[in-house]
Amino acid sequence: MTAATTAGTVPMLEMRNISKRYPGVRALDNVSLSVGKAEIHALLGENGAGKSTMMKILAGAQSGDEGEILIDGSTVTIDSPQKAMDLGISIIYQEFNLVPYLSAGENIFLGREPRAKVPGFVDFKTLYSVSQQVIDKLGVKMDARAPVNTLSIAQQQMVEIAKATSKSSKIIVMDEPSATLTDHELKALFALMRQLKAEGVSIVYISHRLEEVFEVCDRATIMRDGHWVATKDVKDLTRDEIIKLMVGRELKDAIPKVAADQGSVALKVTGLNRTGVLHDINFEVRKGEVLGIAGLVGAGRTETARAIFGADPIDSGTIEVNGKAVKINTPQDAIANGIGLVTEDRKQQGLILGMAVRENTTLANLSAISSLGFIRQKDEKGISEKYRGDLAIKTPSIEQTVQNLSGGNQQKVVLAKWLFTGSKVLIFDEPTRGIDVGAKSEIYKLMNELAAQGVAIIMISSELPEVMGMSDRILVMHEGRITGELNRADATQEKIMHLATGGE
Ligand SMILES: Nc1ncnc2c1ncn2[C@@H]1O[C@H](COP(=O)(O)OP(=O)(O)OP(=O)(O)O)[C@@H](O)[C@H]1O
Ligand SMILES: [Mg+2]
Repeated sequence: MTAATTAGTVPMLEMRNISKRYPGVRALDNVSLSVGKAEIHALLGENGAGKSTMMKILAGAQSGDEGEILIDGSTVTIDSPQKAMDLGISIIYQEFNLVPYLSAGENIFLGREPRAKVPGFVDFKTLYSVSQQVIDKLGVKMDARAPVNTLSIAQQQMVEIAKATSKSSKIIVMDEPSATLTDHELKALFALMRQLKAEGVSIVYISHRLEEVFEVCDRATIMRDGHWVATKDVKDLTRDEIIKLMVGRELKDAIPKVAADQGSVALKVTGLNRTGVLHDINFEVRKGEVLGIAGLVGAGRTETARAIFGADPIDSGTIEVNGKAVKINTPQDAIANGIGLVTEDRKQQGLILGMAVRENTTLANLSAISSLGFIRQKDEKGISEKYRGDLAIKTPSIEQTVQNLSGGNQQKVVLAKWLFTGSKVLIFDEPTRGIDVGAKSEIYKLMNELAAQGVAIIMISSELPEVMGMSDRILVMHEGRITGELNRADATQEKIMHLATGGE
C-alpha cells in the first residue's frame, strides 16, 4: 500500500480480481482496485478499457462474473443498485440517469423525497429549499424547479452531481463528470470533492482530462483493454507516464494543427435572433477554415449551432450557404443544404442506441447507399467498416448495438455518421467529449483533412487548449451574444476568458 492511504488501516473499498465478459468482449480480466478512506482515486484508461464496467459492478447495475468486493474490510454482495446505495455507494453515471420531465429538485431527491405531515404527500417546500441549497452550493445558476428536459447538458450534469453528493455516501463514483463542464463548474466540482474528502468520503474519479488528475487525485489506477496495469501515487506520475501506461506506447498528444487554404465564404449568418436566447449573431466561415466558438456554459454556443441546423426555431436572421440565402426550418433542410451537426448529446440527438453501429453510420445519408429505395447492404457494410477502421471504433463487430459500446466509442460513431454525409459545413459541438487522448489526436487529424478538402468547420469546445490549438479564428460568446473575435495568433486563455465573462 502506498503513502496516500493511511498506513495500517483497512481500505474503504477493495475490488479484488473482478472479471466480466460480454458476448465477444472480455470487458474485465482480473482487475483489482483499492481505495482508502478520504482518498480521491483516479481510474484511467482509453475508451473501452473497462472503467465504467468496473464501476457499474460496484454500483450493482451490472453483475461481475468473478471477483470479490470488500467495504471497510468486510466482504459484501452487491446484487442491485439499492444494495449499493444501502452500503453507502453512490455513482454519477457517464450517461445521465435523470427523469427528463421531473424538476431538478425532484431528480435530486428521487426515491427519498421529504414527506409532508399528510401521509403519502411529498413536502415540496422542503424538497425545493434543500435542493436549491445543494445547487447553490455547487456554484451554478439553476432553478431547482426547472424540469430537467429544459436544462443544458452541463446543468444536467450538475443535477447528477448534486444528486449523488447529497446522499451522505461513504464512496462516490464519478464517471467522467467533467466531460461536459467548463472551468467555472469544474472549480466548483473540485471544491466539492475536496470538501467530501475532508469529511472522510472516498471518491473514484474517471476522466480523460489528465490535468484534472494532477489537480485533485491522490492515487491513480490505470487500466488497458480490461486489464489492471498500474496503481501509483499521483505525485510519482507524469502526464507522459500515464499516457504510456494507458496506451502501452509513447504518444505525442500535441494538437497537430495544419492550416488549410481558405476559399470563399461557405456559411454566412446575419442578424440571428431568438428571443431571450440569441441576440444579433453575425459571422461567416470560409471553406477550409476552422472557426472556434468559445464561451462558458449557457453562453449560447449550442443554441447557435442548433439554430443554424434548424433544430430550434429562430425569430429573425438569415443564413447563406455558398453565397445563397437558404431557408432552414428543420434539420432535414440543413442536411439538404450541406450542413451537419455533430452533437455533444449523443444520447438524445446523435445516435439511435438500439441500432447497430452499421445502421447508425449511414443513418443521415441513406440515399448514398440506396437504389430504388433499397439499401445496398454490401456498400453499407463497406462504409461502416471503413469508418470503424479510420476512427478506431472499438467494437466486436459493426453489427454490435451502439448502446453496448463504451461512451467514447459511441461518440466516435456519431462522428462517423456525420463524416459520411459529406457535409460542406460541419458544426462540431464538443467533438472530443469523453474521447481518450489517443483518439483525440485522430479526431484533430480528421478535422485537418476535412479542412484541406474545403469543408468549413465550426468547432464549439469548452476545452480552451483545443479551441486555441485547432481554430484559425475564435469567436467568444457570452449570454447569447458574440462578445469578441480573436485570430489564431492573438488568442490567449486570458483574452478568451475575459470575453467569455462579458469582458468585465
Ligand atoms: N452491455 C454491454 N454489452 C456488450 N459489451 C459491452 C457492454 N458494456 C460494455 N461493453 C464493452 O466492454 C468494454 C468496456 O467498456 P466500458 O464502458 O467499461 O469502457 P470505458 O473504459 O468506460 O470507456 P470510455 O472511456 O469510452 O467510457 C468495451 O469494449 C465495451 O464495448
Ligand atoms: Mg466509460
